[in-house]
Formats: sequence, C-alpha cells, structure tokens
Amino acid sequence: MNAVVYDRYGSFDVLSYKQVADPVPAAGQVLIRAKAAAVHVGDCFAVHGEPYAMRLQTGLFRPKTGVPGFDVSGVVESVGQSVRTFAPGDEVFGVGNGTCAELVCADASTLALRPKRLSFAESAVLPTSGLAALHALRDIAKLGRGQRVLVVGASGGVGMFAVQIAKSLGAEVTGVCSGRNVDLVRSIGADHVIDYTREDFAKGSARYDLVFDNVENRSVADCRSVLTADGMLICNSGTGATGLRMLVRLVRPLLLNPFVRHKLRRYLSMPNHADLVQLAELAERGVLRPVIAQTFPLAQTRDALAFVQSGHAAGKVVVQIA
Ligand SMILES: NC(=O)c1ccc[n+]([C@@H]2O[C@H](COP(=O)([O-])OP(=O)(O)OC[C@H]3O[C@@H](n4cnc5c(N)ncnc54)[C@H](OP(=O)(O)O)[C@@H]3O)[C@@H](O)[C@H]2O)c1
Repeated sequence: MNAVVYDRYGSFDVLSYKQVADPVPAAGQVLIRAKAAAVHVGDCFAVHGEPYAMRLQTGLFRPKTGVPGFDVSGVVESVGQSVRTFAPGDEVFGVGNGTCAELVCADASTLALRPKRLSFAESAVLPTSGLAALHALRDIAKLGRGQRVLVVGASGGVGMFAVQIAKSLGAEVTGVCSGRNVDLVRSIGADHVIDYTREDFAKGSARYDLVFDNVENRSVADCRSVLTADGMLICNSGTGATGLRMLVRLVRPLLLNPFVRHKLRRYLSMPNHADLVQLAELAERGVLRPVIAQTFPLAQTRDALAFVQSGHAAGKVVVQIA
C-alpha cells in the first residue's frame, strides 16, 4: 500500500510518502481501506515526539506505528478473528493507528458505522474533535438548557463541534474567534460571536456558566472573571507551551481547584464505540455539520500537518486518500 511514513521523531521533514507492506489486523482489530483521514494537533505532536508524554502512546524512543494520523473513515476490508461488530464492506469511521495510509488497522472498539448523511471526508473529521467536545460538554460540564457557554477557539476543530453540541443541549453559546471567522462561527449556530482582535472577552460584562477554553492564551484568572458564581472553566489546550511551562500550565487549574469557588477542570478524551455512535446520530439528525478548512492529497500529508500546526485552520483538515 501507499502510506506516509516516518522512522524517527522530528520536524515534518521526517515524513516520506512511499510503498510499504500492508498492515495486518490483530484479533480485535479491523482492517479499513481508507477513504479519508483527518489530522489535528495531536498528529503533529506524534510526529515531533513532543510533548514527551505523547510518547507513552506513540513509542518512547521511536515511533511505534511510523504512520501519522488517528482519525479515519473508509470501508472494512477484513476483520480480526474476535471481531463480531463489523464485516467486510461496512462503511466506518473512528480512531485507528496510522491513518495517513491506504490501509489502516483500528480497534473495533474505537469504530462505528459512519453517518450516511455525511461524505467520507466529513465522517473522518468527527472522531477526535467531536468526542473531545462531547466529553467536555455532556460529561464534564453536564451542560443543560438555558446555560450560558463561552467557547474560546470556536472556529477550530474542537470549538466548531462544541458550538454545535452546546446548542443541541439547549445552551446559549458565545464563540470567540478572529474576525475572518465570525460569519463561520455564526453560521454553525453561535448566538453571539466575539472577535478577539477587536474585543477582549475578559473585559466584557457577560457572565457564563461554562468557559470551554480550547486556546489557553489567557490566564485562569481572566477566564474565571467571566464565570458565574458557581461556573466551570474547562481548560483544553495542549499547544503554545513546551517543557516545564507546559507541565505548569497543565496542572495549575487542577491544583487551584480545591481553593476556589469555581470548578476548574482538565480532561483527556478517549475514543469509544458508544460515543462514536452518538456522534453519528447527531450527524444524521443534522446537529453536527462539519466544516472542512482544507483538503490535501495523501502524498501531501506534510502540508496538511503544517497547516494544522499554524493554529488557524477554520474547521477541520482532511487528507483525502481515495
Ligand atoms: N482534552 C482532550 O482530550 C483533547 C482532544 C482533542 C484536542 N484537544 C486540544 O484542543 C485544542 C484545540 O484543538 P483544535 O483541534 O480545535 O485546534 P485548531 O483546530 O487548531 O483550532 C484552533 C482555533 O483557535 C483559534 N484561535 C487562535 N488564537 C485564538 C485566540 N486568541 N482566541 C480565540 N481563538 C483563537 C483559531 O481561530 P482563528 O484562526 O480565528 O484565530 C483556530 O480556529 C488543542 O490544544 C488540542 O490539544 C484536547
């Protein structure tokens, strides 16, 4: 098969496009003939091998899989001997290992049948970002009707789904993005949009039950200043800092939490079949309408990752495979 591969961590120059042996699914895995992959900042981390914590998943000294990409959609080619949930020919989406390739192995537990209302490319962008938004809003915030939410980074992969899911839960949503994305964020359902190049949300008079911060370029104090008395701040950005600064940023809200009246949260979203099914249902009902910022051919995965790393893609970035 053709795939994008790398045998050491580094800049995107470590990536090359070549023919390699077909992967073989383990007993609980599914082999997918990929139609599309979607890339996000976690894929950039996996190529760089930084933040180092990422290597617990991708390989301590060398990349284990050696193919970038986690999100995928495609058609089941074959299934491992213990898989009963999928059969050859099923159209699926979910999280796999090394999805920037023509053939992809994925655990059956991190796949679901794809929503037919969406294209393969639109299906591929759902898993990681959609689940991150769902887990934050439904499980951590337990967001309900009439609550007011501020989504920082509303035009990004996670933010875009967060706006749509928050609306479907009955919340009043304010999105924060740059001026060029104001119309986009409004078009996906935000009730109010703050252009951060003109207006500082922390200086506004509005108060929110939840701040979902996908950028984290503002202090915890700034975010808390716009919360209601018992409001919640969910910190959700792994970018913009490295090394010790990153560690401090990651743990600060958790250490602070017991001493303040607000609820401060950070979380790790993990893929599972049931929640992928829920995302597919939301997509079939028209609640989730993915926005694709740009599509790249498989051979240009490197450019796709560089675009993601710029931090200003308006929506999701797709690698078209077939
Ligand atoms: N907790 C988890 O398990 C989990 C899972 C997935 C992702 N994440 C994290 O979620 C974060 C967001 O990921 P993503 O895929 O949504 O990133 P993304 O697609 O790169 O989106 C970033 C967005 O942030 C916006 N932005 C940049 N500067 C901003 C500012 N000052 N104020 C408001 N918005 C600003 C950009 O919009 P403009 O172009 O308009 O500036 C862009 O649309 C990442 O740090 C990632 O590590 C966490």
